[in-house]
Amino acid sequence: MTAERIDTTRLQRLARAYCETAVLYAAIDLDLFTHVSQGANSVEKLANAMGIRLLQAERLVTTAVAMGLLETDPLGLRNAPDAERFLVNGKPGYAADWLMFTRDDVPAWFDLTNTLREQEPPSVLGMYESLTVEQARRYHAATYSIGAGAGRRFARQVDMSARRRLLDLGGGSGAYSIEAVKAYPQLRAIVLDLPPVTEVTKEYVAVAGVGERVDVLPGDFTKTAFPDDVDIAVMASNLPIYDEAVIGAVIARVHDALLPGGEFHLVGEMLNDDRSGPLDAALWGMNEAVCRSAGKAHTVGQCIGYFTAAGFVDIDDETFIPGILHRVHGRKAG
Ligand SMILES: C[S@@+](CC[C@H](N)C(=O)[O-])C[C@H]1O[C@@H](n2cnc3c(N)ncnc32)[C@H](O)[C@@H]1O
Repeated sequence: MTAERIDTTRLQRLARAYCETAVLYAAIDLDLFTHVSQGANSVEKLANAMGIRLLQAERLVTTAVAMGLLETDPLGLRNAPDAERFLVNGKPGYAADWLMFTRDDVPAWFDLTNTLREQEPPSVLGMYESLTVEQARRYHAATYSIGAGAGRRFARQVDMSARRRLLDLGGGSGAYSIEAVKAYPQLRAIVLDLPPVTEVTKEYVAVAGVGERVDVLPGDFTKTAFPDDVDIAVMASNLPIYDEAVIGAVIARVHDALLPGGEFHLVGEMLNDDRSGPLDAALWGMNEAVCRSAGKAHTVGQCIGYFTAAGFVDIDDETFIPGILHRVHGRKAG
């Protein structure tokens, strides 16, 4: 038996992973994938379409091919399936807002060593502490570009046909609520989010034409009293923002506020119980260091524990978006 050869390949790739991020950003900025989709299938045509020198276009295309974002065939260049679906400006799936969402955080990530050495205790709300309406508008342009699809998936996975009122905690753009009321004509929803955010929620709800059926509740879900007429609640993509004590307390309050027989779904970036990954959940936990909040990555088992401690029954969990989001859910007895 030959011993497995250990080399530096993986470590070199990790040490220069930022180059791939930068190439993706540049390709999106220059509308590379949009031009390819519109028929620019050679380096020359792309240089022309992007308005950059031939040499730079060749570099960009060569790297995009090596990254698997572009493919070549005898007819020329074409987008990889995910690039065609999510990176072509003007297509309904265009997700550049979301993919560019953390671009402003790049300098802070490259100062991570100093952040990890800081001794000051973090704040509870982190980046959300001083959010303005304008920042919330930019933030949720990004979350909506990905959240609408997640909201549709939630409405497909969770049968809400017998439910009357959905509470959407930290609902942001209202993506989950909008898709839920569109899928279930009898359902009304209420989005609880921070006051600057609910100003933006109202804009998305109005554009979706569901203003009559989706209300907003400006507040802080760690403190604000929940409505008392809710038979289903969801909290999506907030989990790593808070620590065990805060999440446990919110889930206990959701349980108490729900009508008997009501259900709660926690959709979040969760670690496996052996804490071996997924990497995305670990990185969102680390992101809270950059945001200087007290948040962290939680495991699936911990989340199930919060439901159990709160008094939920019929607790179960499933993959929501493989490698990214997990869903833990339970029912209030009655
Ligand atoms: C990543 S976004 C997710 C939005 C939405 N749930 C979705 O999946 O599209 C997180 C949201 O949680 C909200 N949030 C965080 N902490 C909150 C708190 N204490 N009270 C209310 N909203 C909060 C943020 O303002 C933001 O809108």
